[in-house]
Amino acid sequence: MKIGICPGSFDPVTMGHLDIISRSRKIFDHVIVAVMINPAKKTLFTVEERIDLLKRATADMENVEVVGFAGLLAEYARQRGATAVVKGLRAVTDFEYEFQQALTNKKLNPDMETLFMTTNSEHMFLSSSIVKQIAMFGGDISNFVPECILEDVKKRICEDQLLIGQK
Ligand code: PNS
Repeated sequence: MKIGICPGSFDPVTMGHLDIISRSRKIFDHVIVAVMINPAKKTLFTVEERIDLLKRATADMENVEVVGFAGLLAEYARQRGATAVVKGLRAVTDFEYEFQQALTNKKLNPDMETLFMTTNSEHMFLSSSIVKQIAMFGGDISNFVPECILEDVKKRICEDQLLIGQK
């Protein structure tokens, strides 16, 4: 069985992430969506919350499993016997960071490949950070995140008093 991993922070999952996950399902028998720790990022949602949001967003995707892992991606891929990790590439700006990670992961686990999937042109500009920023300014994010998590994002921005420029 060919196993692929879609790793990320997913804070929160966006339509761009969902696109990469659903296209990965055509390549692998089983797709593991792994919510990992990116030490460079301060997150809006806890790992458990992000897993829950992802589970709801992928509920209709049969061969998709959502997990959390607080260690190295290379180690997790080894544990699960994964053939490859799939990363979405939006623009040239993503490349250097992703290339560095791919080379590092290859050193840590030579059996693991990294596949770069070009993002759908509709999602070229989309990122979790952009979604959070739009929501912080009270903008409409309904085209950018799955409908089933929309209220969760809006609610958390309000709860954490992150709304900017609103009375
Ligand atoms: O969505 P992100 O934040 O760009 O995803 C990055 C992530 C979480 C996949 C990356 O930081 C990661 O793999 N974290 C786990 C720890 C690890 O393996 N670090 C070494 C990668 S070179």
